[in-house]
Amino acid sequence: MKHVYVGMSADLVHPGHLNVLQKAQELGEVTVGLLTDEAIASYKRVPFMEFEQRKQVIENIKGVAQVVPQTTLDYVPNLRELKPDYVVHGDDWQEGVQRQTRQRVIDALAEWGGELVEVPYTQGISSTKLNQALKEIGTTPELRLKSLRRMLKVKPLLRFLDIHNALSGLIIEHAYVDTPQGKREFDGMWGSSLTDSTAKGKPDIEAVDVSARMTTLNEVLEVTTKPIIYDADTGGQTEHFQFTVKTLERLGVSAAIIEDKTGLKKNSLFGTDVPQTQDSIEGFCHKIQQGKKAQATDDFMIIARIESLILGKGVEDALTRAKAYLDAGADGIMIHSREKTPDEIFAFCEQYNTFSNRKPLVAVPSSYNTVTEEELQAYGVNIVIYANQLLRSAYPAMLETAKSILQHRRSAECDERMLSIKDILELIPGTR
Ligand code: SPV
Ligand code: MG
Repeated sequence: MKHVYVGMSADLVHPGHLNVLQKAQELGEVTVGLLTDEAIASYKRVPFMEFEQRKQVIENIKGVAQVVPQTTLDYVPNLRELKPDYVVHGDDWQEGVQRQTRQRVIDALAEWGGELVEVPYTQGISSTKLNQALKEIGTTPELRLKSLRRMLKVKPLLRFLDIHNALSGLIIEHAYVDTPQGKREFDGMWGSSLTDSTAKGKPDIEAVDVSARMTTLNEVLEVTTKPIIYDADTGGQTEHFQFTVKTLERLGVSAAIIEDKTGLKKNSLFGTDVPQTQDSIEGFCHKIQQGKKAQATDDFMIIARIESLILGKGVEDALTRAKAYLDAGADGIMIHSREKTPDEIFAFCEQYNTFSNRKPLVAVPSSYNTVTEEELQAYGVNIVIYANQLLRSAYPAMLETAKSILQHRRSAECDERMLSIKDILELIPGTR
C-alpha cells in the first residue's frame, strides 16, 4: 500500500477538496495534514472553524485514513517524518504565495523518491469565492465579539487602526497589500475617543457621550465584519461603565479599554502639559471588577490602560499597577507612552513578560512611531493600535482641497488629487 499525503486547511470544504481527496485515495492510503489555526493565520485570515471542528469534518470523509496536524505552512517537517510516496494537491498553487511551498514539497519528496501529483483546479468553486460570499452576508454580534479572542490565540501580533465613521471602517475592512508571506491586512478597528470626538468637532474630554459614541460604532458595525476594540476613556462612573459594557456586548464589540484616570480626562498625548489625575489602584481595580461582573458573555474583554508613563511616574509604578489590574480581573493591559523612542515601553515589556498572570499586551505607537511591528512582537506586544492615523491623513487632504477652491475659485486645480466622480459613485456597492 502506497502512502499519500494531502495538506489542507479545509475551513470551507467544497467539491474541490473532495476531488483532491478522491485522487489521493486512488493512489493509496491517505493522511491529511490539517493546517493548524496558527499555520493558517500565518498567511491568511483566522479560519471560521477551529482545528478540532475541521478535524472532525475531514476524519469523516470517505477514504481518509488519518488526520495529523500540520503546524506550519511549510509541508517539509511532516513530509520528512512520514516519507509519503505521493503528495496530492490542486494545481492552483503553481503561482502566488504558495509557489515556494510547492517547490519545497518537490525537493523534499525527491529525498526518498516521492512524487507530487497535481489535480486540475475545480472550476467554478474556490475558498476565495466562498469567503467573499460570506463576507457579503456579514457577521453576527456574537461571532464578531468572539473573533478577537480567537485571533489572539492564533496570531502573535494583531494590527488595529482607528475608526471615526463607516467609511473609515470600510477602509480597514478591505485594505490589504500582497506580500511574499501572503495578504497583509488589518485585523480590526480601534474605536478611538480622539478621532471620534475630533470628527464630531468636540474635544477628547469625554464630552461626546456614550450614546453618541455608540452611534458611530453602529454606523461602522453596519458595514464591516472585523472585531472592534472600543476606547472607553476612563469608563466614567463605575455604575455607568457597567451599562457601557452591556451595550458594547450587545453590539458585538470585542473589548473595551479603560484608562486609569479620574476627573476631567484629557488626551494622553498632552502628558503632563495639562492637569490629569491618575486613579488610585484600589479605585481602578474596583471599576475593573464591577465591569467584569456586568458582562453577559465570557468572551468580552476589559483591558486596563496604564497612564503611569504618560504622567511621568515611571516603569515601576506601571508594573505595580499592571499586576494589580490583572489580579482584579483585567483581560489584558494597554501600556501607553508619549516618548519619541520605545525604550520605556520595552523596559515595561521585559518585566511584564515574566508575570505569572500575564495577559495580552496592547501598545499604541503614536509618538514612538519608528518602532516596527517585528520589534513590538519580539517584546511580546500582542496588539498594536494605530490610534489616529486615518483621521490625521484625511484632514490635511480636505483642508488642502478647501484652500485650493478658495484660491482658484474653481475645483479644477485640485481635481487630480481627488477620487474621480466615477470612483466615488462606484466606491460603495449598490450605489448604481
Ligand atoms: C485615542 O485614540 O483616543 C486614544 C489613544 O485614547 S491617545 O490619543 O494616544 O490617548
Ligand atoms: Mg482615547
